[in-house]
Amino acid sequence: MPEYNLLGHPKKLKRDVGIRLNDKEHNRALAMKFDFEYFDGSREQGYGGYKYDGRWVAVAERLKDRYKLREGSCFLDVGCAKGFLMHDLTTICPGASIHGLDISLYAKNHALASVKENIDIGNCLKLPYEDNAFDAAVAINTIHNLELDDCKKSIRELMRVTKNKKNIFIQVDAYSDKRELEMFQAWVLTAQTYMMPDEWENIFKEIGYEGDYFWTIIGFEGN
Ligand SMILES: C[S@@+](CC[C@H](N)C(=O)[O-])C[C@H]1O[C@@H](n2cnc3c(N)ncnc32)[C@H](O)[C@@H]1O
Repeated sequence: MPEYNLLGHPKKLKRDVGIRLNDKEHNRALAMKFDFEYFDGSREQGYGGYKYDGRWVAVAERLKDRYKLREGSCFLDVGCAKGFLMHDLTTICPGASIHGLDISLYAKNHALASVKENIDIGNCLKLPYEDNAFDAAVAINTIHNLELDDCKKSIRELMRVTKNKKNIFIQVDAYSDKRELEMFQAWVLTAQTYMMPDEWENIFKEIGYEGDYFWTIIGFEGN
């Protein structure tokens, strides 16, 4: 069950947290609909434009190597949004069957044409797939959008649908100290569950999760 930096993130993501301090509750409510505002509205309400820019190519290459994906492999991205990782994995792993699931119909409707048909609308809490249906699965910054009990259910679901329980990657929001918690709370819009890395690790142990994991930790410009 190793910590693994699949996305190649720096230890802390630098964010201009000041812009999220005003109208927080209004912006949170809009973001949590996972609709236009969250993906393509202003930075105060979400991504400020969730656009394909090629950054997932390196992630797809690491995924392919780590989980030995090849022709005939079956892969699932839970919380796939507009399918950017799916698109790059499709190119890097020809002949693999690449699937995604997201709660957002807006994201699917604005997904890359190459993968749109392979995106299912659903909830990570209850995945609409058979046991052991996939060779590998990821949930990148997705499950922390649920309350803790539902996060646990989502992790169990990832384990249920993945054949080799080690071929799973989960990235979640975390903080290592009081200052990072303050930064996080200033920035956060949709996460319901965030903890220190060792607290997340205790949850993983409690569930018997054997896959990989990593943290999204927010810093601020100049820190
Ligand atoms: C922070 S975005 C991450 C998107 C993508 N994985 C990435 O890293 O760029 C979170 C994604 O999870 C989706 N999401 C939120 N709650 C979900 C749920 N309960 N089940 C499935 N998807 C969910 C959102 O619609 C959004 O696409």
